[in-house]
Amino acid sequence: MRNPTLNLQTAPGHQVLAAAGKRILRPGGRAATEKLFQWADFKPGETVLELAASFGDSAIALAKRYDLYVVAIEKNPDSVARARTNVAAAGLTDRIEIIEGDIFDIDRLGKQFDYVLAEAILTMQSPSGKAKILRGVRARLKPGGKFLSHELLAQNNESEIHQVLSQVIRVNAAPYSKSNWIAAFETAGLKVQQHQTGIMGLLNIQQILHDEGIIGTALVLWNIITKPLLRQRILQMRQVFNQYKQDLGYIIICAQRL
Ligand SMILES: C[S@@+](CC[C@H](N)C(=O)[O-])C[C@H]1O[C@@H](n2cnc3c(N)ncnc32)[C@H](O)[C@@H]1O
Repeated sequence: MRNPTLNLQTAPGHQVLAAAGKRILRPGGRAATEKLFQWADFKPGETVLELAASFGDSAIALAKRYDLYVVAIEKNPDSVARARTNVAAAGLTDRIEIIEGDIFDIDRLGKQFDYVLAEAILTMQSPSGKAKILRGVRARLKPGGKFLSHELLAQNNESEIHQVLSQVIRVNAAPYSKSNWIAAFETAGLKVQQHQTGIMGLLNIQQILHDEGIIGTALVLWNIITKPLLRQRILQMRQVFNQYKQDLGYIIICAQRL
């Protein structure tokens, strides 16, 4: 495990999964992110603001594959350090800036971007927090700029799922239904152009293989088998994901600033 001081009983779900060796921490995995990138139709030299960039995986893909400039905000100092190391190892320090900061403060950036990307972060906010971030996203987009979003979906039973999920993940996790996500975007002045929903695949073995590769998956499985506390937390999460598998999923949305 990377962080020896992590308390596995109380740590947020994404830190537990990262401690198990997972690098991709979003419900629809790489495939859903890939779809968002297709919808975006990036042009070389365009700019992206990424919210909650974690280890810099998406920022690196954007800079390397589409020749974009990325500013990425991340709050956790350990993740910031790891993201900066990953960016340097990819030779992309001239294209990606990782800022240690809070996504509630993006108004301080003072400039606008062609795109904002946010994955697995809006779900963790209260309704007023979601609305505030969405207003901040709109303000950071150039006119006509696009917001690319990848979040958890609760097609039914929103309040029950909020309660059970928050308990097992140890962090506020309040997924909206498709219509509520779309309404929240449009209220903030973000016109939804495309959207897609799918299953919650974070702990689905096929998605883990696709996201982490064979060696990465073997590492995750090894950690789960050999570390009882880690195993306990991950099995608890998996049990809730399975219990609500009819309702729980991912949603990706591409929305344009009006
Ligand atoms: C579930 S992970 C998703 C990470 C990444 N976007 C991905 O898809 O792999 C959530 C990330 O958000 C970061 N985070 C949580 N609250 C934040 C905030 N207020 N400002 C910036 N980053 C935040 C966490 O440190 C964590 O890295």
